[in-house]
Amino acid sequence: MYRAAAATLLFASLVLGQQVGTNTPEKHPSMPIEVCTAPGSCTKENTEVVLDANWRWTHVTTGYTNCYTGSSWNATACPDGETCAANCAIDGADYEKTYGITTPSSGALKLKFVTKNDNGQNVGSRVYLMASADKYRMFNLLNKEFTFDVDVSNLPCGLNGAVYFSEMDEDGGLSRFSGNKAGAKYGTGYCDSQCPQDIKFINGAANVEGWGGDSGDSGAGKYGTCCAEMDIWEANMDATAYTPHVCSVNEQTRCEGADCGAGDDRYSSLCDKDGCDFNSFRLGNQEFYGPEKTVDTTKPFTIVTQFVTDDGTDTGTLKSINRFYVQDGKVIPNSQVVVEGVDPVNNISDEFCTQQKTAFGDNNYFGTLGGMAAMGKSLEKMVLVLSVWDDHAVSMNWLDSNFPNDADPSKPGVSRGRCDPEAGLPAKVEAAHPDASVIYSNIKLGAINSTFAAN
Ligand SMILES: *[C@@H]1O[C@H](CO)[C@@H](O)[C@H](O)[C@H]1NC(C)=O
Ligand SMILES: *[C@@H]1O[C@H](CO)[C@@H](O)[C@H](O)[C@H]1NC(C)=O
Ligand SMILES: *[C@@H]1O[C@H](CO)[C@@H](O)[C@H](O)[C@H]1NC(C)=O
Repeated sequence: MYRAAAATLLFASLVLGQQVGTNTPEKHPSMPIEVCTAPGSCTKENTEVVLDANWRWTHVTTGYTNCYTGSSWNATACPDGETCAANCAIDGADYEKTYGITTPSSGALKLKFVTKNDNGQNVGSRVYLMASADKYRMFNLLNKEFTFDVDVSNLPCGLNGAVYFSEMDEDGGLSRFSGNKAGAKYGTGYCDSQCPQDIKFINGAANVEGWGGDSGDSGAGKYGTCCAEMDIWEANMDATAYTPHVCSVNEQTRCEGADCGAGDDRYSSLCDKDGCDFNSFRLGNQEFYGPEKTVDTTKPFTIVTQFVTDDGTDTGTLKSINRFYVQDGKVIPNSQVVVEGVDPVNNISDEFCTQQKTAFGDNNYFGTLGGMAAMGKSLEKMVLVLSVWDDHAVSMNWLDSNFPNDADPSKPGVSRGRCDPEAGLPAKVEAAHPDASVIYSNIKLGAINSTFAAN
């Protein structure tokens, strides 16, 4: 009898889980992209974007009681991860009113930093590109280039407007995890190379166990969610970097303990958290990027990123990641490295990574986990992420200021941008620049040199 009852309950919790709420209908903003074969020969694709599940209201399926408030779980609804996923739903999003996400024109997406709403305020956002209402748009980037326009003129120091690829499941984990009933339509299944532990639902279960956090902070649980990540664009008005990050796993993978790489376990993680970054300022050219610089961030511009393979085919091994900018009709090649011990290149390759890590005294965990070849394997099946965020861990100093903070800024690799190290303190930047925003537009994918006028 007890056994039977227990079996029924178990069955029930397998059937249900990370439910869908129906308080607000989920309507994805449209964001068409283009796929090109040659300059001027492009085809429009009717893609749309979806807000990540972590930003959404989570409430009990039977009513409007929150499953999660501030930075804690409701212990009644969420005694453990599986029960919580069965009891709780994630709801539809009012993109503009609640989250400050708008589409100012066709193919353009604006993400506002702080949005005052009925529940207080929303800070930052993260959306994914979708091929249809319930599937992410999968990208194979090998032997291809990825291009988009950005306007960072309203994105000051301490903020990060990011465009990147993560090796997420096409359906957000819906088919792989029976506890996940929401799927990509509700922005589930996130992962990245930091193996983030502040994700509320991972593998169809709530990350309840061990969850803690300071008030105002997002909190974090026992589990993290890891996968390879290709940062095309992490930037504000004063700094930018593009960075491949590899992992020893080839799909979204839940981690715990040392595998997540927190604190002293950084170089035991399933993923390479540092990556191999190309930041022009850090690499010796302080006049290349910024207001009134060679790439003038007071005005919009185009960013082209090319994934070159060793044999020039889609099945080759990734050899180099090249970068161009286009502004006012002019093609601007990426800046060249000016660092002792590093060849004067303007692209990312295994040689560049090895040389840079040595010159800066950094651990080449990127190389340890397989370097460019490993990145290339992951680039075959990526999901596009667009976000704006502030940094509760280290105030974005790794991007736009001196990092580590206590290191001598004259030591090679320490100085990454001209921002004040305190500019990115979350409380400070949220109070000083709530109306900051970034606009991404004209996303294109195509053969090398097909998405822009290269000459
Ligand atoms: C937690 O959830 C239970 C039932 O699901 C509800 O009765 C209770 O009021 C909730 N507690 C809080 C603090 O929201
Ligand atoms: C990388 O850039 C260098 C010049 O900075 C260039 O000579 C080389 O051809 C580039 N590599 C690839 C694969 O495009
Ligand atoms: C692509 O365009 C760039 C910029 O004009 C040029 O330097 C490069 O040689 C071109 N590459 C190919 C493969 O045509």
